[in-house]
Amino acid sequence: MTKMLKSLLAATVLMFSLGASASEEATGPSLFDRLGGEAGARQIVADTYHNHTVNPIVKNRFSYSDAEYVKQRVYEIFAMATGAPEVTYDGDLAAIHKPMNINEMEFNAIVDDVMAALAKNNVAQQEQNEVLAILWGARPAIVNMNVTTQTLTVPAEPAPAH
Ligand code: HEM
Repeated sequence: MTKMLKSLLAATVLMFSLGASASEEATGPSLFDRLGGEAGARQIVADTYHNHTVNPIVKNRFSYSDAEYVKQRVYEIFAMATGAPEVTYDGDLAAIHKPMNINEMEFNAIVDDVMAALAKNNVAQQEQNEVLAILWGARPAIVNMNVTTQTLTVPAEPAPAH
């Protein structure tokens, strides 16, 4: 597969995972509502950001960040992805993270921070699972795919015979 095709596929997967959860289920309230609406989502984002700043794996990444700005932007994408009405994120997730050369361990650390924030806010297992699925969908836009374990699973040459 060509590089361009791959990134197109990654973008489509991301759009699908963000967009799919944005559409309100006919049967019930959106994930955004089930997380407590704006107040709930902002609290989860604030707790997540705090967790990043004390997580040894990623805290240095945020040393020079404007906390209020990043929290606002993350609230926008989180709200949009969970189905908030009239909240949009107009940034370019892949373009912002690409120069950071983020690896899988860092991605997992960020996911852990989100999950810990959900638990702290007494979010039920079902909603935790839905948030986790959204985060996983964003992985191709965030992680440098040259440094994932996927690259290790296909050896360049057959292992030498003993
Ligand atoms: C599902 C995963 C992630 C999502 C949805 C996400 C989302 C975001 C968003 C929306 C912003 C604000 C960007 C803007 O529009 O200005 C941001 C900033 C940032 N992200 Fe992520 N991110 C994710 C994972 C990561 C990971 C794994 C790292 C590395 C440890 C990381 C490091 C950063 C940093 C350092 C900033 C702040 C940049 C600045 O100070 O301007 N992110 N992220």
